Amino acid sequence: MDGRDQVRSVWWGRAVGAVRALRAAGSVRGLLSWRSAWRRRRADRLGTARRGPERARVPGAAARAEPQPGGGVVFFARSSLRVRVAAGGAVFCGWDGAEPEPSYALAGTCPEPDVRAVLEPDTEGGWRVVSERVTVTVSRHGAVAVRTPGGVVLRRELPPRWWDRVPGDGGGVPAERSGESRWVQRSEVAADARFFGLGGRSCGPRLRARRYRLWNTDPGGAFVPGDDPLSVTMPVQFVVADAGTHLVFHDNSWDGTVMLREGSEGAGSGHDRPGCSELRMDGGPLRYWVLVGTPARVLLGWTALTGAPTPPPRWALGPQHARWGFGSQEEVRRVVSGYRERGLPLSAVHLDIDHYDGHRVFTVDRTAFPDLPGLARELRSEGVRLVSIVDPGVKAEPGNAVYEGGAAADAYVRDARGREVRGVVWPGEAVFPDFTDARVRKWWGGLYAERLAQGFSGVWHDMNEPVSFAAFGDPSLPRSARHALEGRGGDHREAHNVYGLAMARAGYEGLLELRPEERPFLFSRSGWVGMQRYGGTWSGDVATGWPGLRASLSLVLGMGLCGVPYSGPDVGGFSGVPSPELYLRWFQMAAYLPLFRTHSAVFAGRREPWEFGPEVVEHARAALLERERLVPYFVSLGQLARLSGAPYVRPVWWSTPRDRKLRDCEDAFLLGDALLVAPVLGPGVTRRAVRLPRGRWYDTASGQAYDGPGQVLVDAPLSRIPVLARAGAVLPVAGGDGVTELEVWAPVAGRAGGGVLVPDVGDGWRQPEVERFETRLEDGRVVVERQGGGAAGYRVRVRGLADGNGVGREAPVA
Ligand code: NOJ
Repeated sequence: MDGRDQVRSVWWGRAVGAVRALRAAGSVRGLLSWRSAWRRRRADRLGTARRGPERARVPGAAARAEPQPGGGVVFFARSSLRVRVAAGGAVFCGWDGAEPEPSYALAGTCPEPDVRAVLEPDTEGGWRVVSERVTVTVSRHGAVAVRTPGGVVLRRELPPRWWDRVPGDGGGVPAERSGESRWVQRSEVAADARFFGLGGRSCGPRLRARRYRLWNTDPGGAFVPGDDPLSVTMPVQFVVADAGTHLVFHDNSWDGTVMLREGSEGAGSGHDRPGCSELRMDGGPLRYWVLVGTPARVLLGWTALTGAPTPPPRWALGPQHARWGFGSQEEVRRVVSGYRERGLPLSAVHLDIDHYDGHRVFTVDRTAFPDLPGLARELRSEGVRLVSIVDPGVKAEPGNAVYEGGAAADAYVRDARGREVRGVVWPGEAVFPDFTDARVRKWWGGLYAERLAQGFSGVWHDMNEPVSFAAFGDPSLPRSARHALEGRGGDHREAHNVYGLAMARAGYEGLLELRPEERPFLFSRSGWVGMQRYGGTWSGDVATGWPGLRASLSLVLGMGLCGVPYSGPDVGGFSGVPSPELYLRWFQMAAYLPLFRTHSAVFAGRREPWEFGPEVVEHARAALLERERLVPYFVSLGQLARLSGAPYVRPVWWSTPRDRKLRDCEDAFLLGDALLVAPVLGPGVTRRAVRLPRGRWYDTASGQAYDGPGQVLVDAPLSRIPVLARAGAVLPVAGGDGVTELEVWAPVAGRAGGGVLVPDVGDGWRQPEVERFETRLEDGRVVVERQGGGAAGYRVRVRGLADGNGVGREAPVA
């Protein structure tokens, strides 16, 4: 951060702190949070080096270059740049000797170099590496341009600038410690480019001009659009322009900011202003990956690099209900009966921290929940699973078996002087496992045996930014807190952003070992690049209100473009009492998101549909039944995400990124290839404009056909939100008898359509076969063919044919 930013952020921090302090004053937790904030400040005073004098550095002039497999190294007067194209096409750039590993983001080891890519001199005195999908040029002063094979520049990285600490004045810490230089890198993109990604952002999905922080943060209370940062920040930019799409990932987990500004075109004057990004990091390596291609290609490459999203079990694709403050097992039973009696499908109930004994993780309040395994069995027989919250903060008190076990295993984060770092979370004074230590992950993973014994089927990780309540300053651990960082050793400045990711790994690996026959179900509030390997996420404490509804869609879309497909919001918002209309509209949208869960705070209103009156119950039932019908489609999309990285929920420009109007459309989304969902995001709406990608689209409610590209007005009565189906789409759905059938939307004459079905082969590890179908119109009849031949054996229901207002004739599957 530069000086002005620092001043701004200090003042902002103080203002937030003052509000928090006022709120906290009076309560025991409030007093503890004062103490904890002071302790954190003191720890940092003692444990962190003052920055001291710094010296600015730029690469200087290039002297020579050395070819290596996949690219090579260019040596400048004061730095070096390694460029390496990996098999699969991703390009790695590392300054100052940075290598791709070690990395928390990469799945397994770094991909092999593409030996066909070679570093060679270019005609302008610099160098270039030409590969199949991208050409990278390096200028004599260290500017790096990423070009399409046709030579169009997608991104130009200007020479970076570092601020190195001057040796000998390090405030007690060795000044030459590597990775402590601050740095900035400015980049330019096309004037028409749009930015997306950066993890979960409340003010997207299109990221407009502003500063975005890279520091996972619990905003404290509920957030609204514009609140930044939130729990999952990622240095991942997904950039879409006419010339092409690219993703750039700076593999660096330190604190930083990204300043984005979209460009503008000079209306033919030739004076285009490029879009720009300025990334400032407080330390850590300057290394990044670039992937180029169509959006689908980019995410395919991204998945190869950072890992395949683990598909949730089938039941986790059904409707789920949570509440902080169910209070007792009787109440859980009452709620589940409420669903059953009203014919409202329900697949899981989530228990929050109030079911713990005094908020202690891995315990149960035996008075309120005397027989959790019995309750779990009973609910399971009705098709309802139990999911447990798991917080990382362990109550620090003698006699707490988890605390003592961790202390004996030396599992907790320590300060620079070697003492356990104490913070404050729900159970009071707490310590924090160091998940960046494989030994600690193993110990923690073993604790999930207790959750399984209680009958839980999955886990919900919370408070893992990590949060330590603080009356002022950063509500997390001291920056000087020490972490193992896989044996390299380091402090919280580097470990903070990967804490939730490493906790997810611990939980996932623990569950896998304890119950190897089932895919773990885990979703986590905080995380980082690669978290999809272990599970998904949710929006966290989104504020009740129409702006919160919008923010929750932005989060899901942003996460999907960063490779994390499974997510969803707290339906109804976390914090307040939604109007029946707001609740219903949120509910209707979430019915088309992978994680479909109602949830609220203990101090907020309830979220069972019947709390909002009979009309809402009726419409919520319709949304729930439609969701149940679509589960085979969700199962297929989950498997496709594993195979290709394509998220369930995609921006409307997914297949046509050159359509500028679609790039700017933020109020609708594609669910897979087949459906376009246009949620209602404001009050009093009964009809809304929907921007269509090219091709024919059918309103699934009326069968009315529309031809895109363009904008159409579609009915959005309170009973439903507009959902359009692509002509030619093949959608696996559950028939009335529960058996999977194919819903086929009539293709346009002369244009083939198609779709994919990945059958549900259970919650284990069997790899299902992907079945592909093609459709076409022949003499007014819809023909559906299974690719590769063979009998499909599915019932087919054709929709969208002109006769019968959308209800089509049966057609044979060839
Ligand atoms: C914060 C989480 O975001 C929320 O979902 C949960 O209910 C509370 N913590 C209490 O555990």
